[in-house]
Amino acid sequence: MSVAHGVKTLGVVGAGQMGLGIAYVAALKAQIPSVMLCDASAGQLSKGVAFFETLLKKDVAKGKVSQSDADAARARLVTVEKLEDFAGSKGIADMVIEAATENLAVKQKIFGTLASTLPLETILATNTSSISVSKIAASAVGAGVKPGSEEAWKSPARALGIHFFNPVPVMPLVELIPAIQTAPEVVDRSRAFAQACGKEVTTSKDVPGFVSNRLLMPFINEAVMALEKGIASRDDIDKTLRLGMNHPMGPLTLADFIGLDTCLSIMETLYRETADSKYRPAVLLGRMVDAGWFGKKSGKGFYDYPAK
Ligand code: 3HC
Repeated sequence: MSVAHGVKTLGVVGAGQMGLGIAYVAALKAQIPSVMLCDASAGQLSKGVAFFETLLKKDVAKGKVSQSDADAARARLVTVEKLEDFAGSKGIADMVIEAATENLAVKQKIFGTLASTLPLETILATNTSSISVSKIAASAVGAGVKPGSEEAWKSPARALGIHFFNPVPVMPLVELIPAIQTAPEVVDRSRAFAQACGKEVTTSKDVPGFVSNRLLMPFINEAVMALEKGIASRDDIDKTLRLGMNHPMGPLTLADFIGLDTCLSIMETLYRETADSKYRPAVLLGRMVDAGWFGKKSGKGFYDYPAK
């Protein structure tokens, strides 16, 4: 029996690459009637909306989307200034997906505010790439809720990880990560939602890196170590994986694409939370992040990206 996701109003926190991509597939593919996009920075919010419009234009030009479907998707996108607006005059969100910066304290604050504002039925999802979802879920308790009360136990049960991949409109996967607190029906509704967004779904336990980054990041880290040790040149490392294994991007190009700061932070989480030396981050990766070489987004990483 198929489960209805029941999402008529979606809130998305963060109008960066990931948040914007999530808003895009939700408005265009899942046709969620109202997709509310929120960002702490007004500049980022308008940049996000402009990118949403560019993506629609490109899809229309390629003949992948009709002009009327594009117009309908644009009309579904609403911008809001603060998290409290997810339960305001523009509607009450049935689901919120947080795609803010990869920082536990920031995410805990967001989940606390969302739990204080939204009804218990609203699903609260994080797009974290490696932070403990159970820890984030534990912060999904409204201000003033008495510790140990029924609501304090119930509220985190509506939280889980919904992990999209970059670029969201292109990558066909969503990884679901139930926290240890998550209610089964929240997982079922989230799966239905991801499928409505046109995605295939896998499920991972809430372990450091989940399945995706537990496998991907040590692979990227090993490529950085190979470069550091002079085993091969940057270009030959990438070429080996592109042509020998048919990867669309070599691991160093992919690291630049994801962001070297993100790769380092995920490796640090794996290393810290498992205390297993096989996850130690490459020294070169740390030094590049120290230097502000974050990859494509900063203009420099393993490759150079001149400003257009
Ligand atoms: N947004 C929307 N669409 C995009 C896009 C973006 N940012 N970037 C590329 N595309 C689209 C293009 O428009 C094009 O669409 P079309 O087929 O309809 O013409 C299609 O993607 C292919 O793009 P290009 O022809 O420009 O370039 P490539 O063929 O080289 O593909 C790529 C680009 C899809 C990014 C491909 O190189 C790829 O799949 N790379 C690997 C990406 C990957 O592994 N992502 C996962 C990262 S890990 C992650 O996100 C998890 C996190 O927790 C770290």
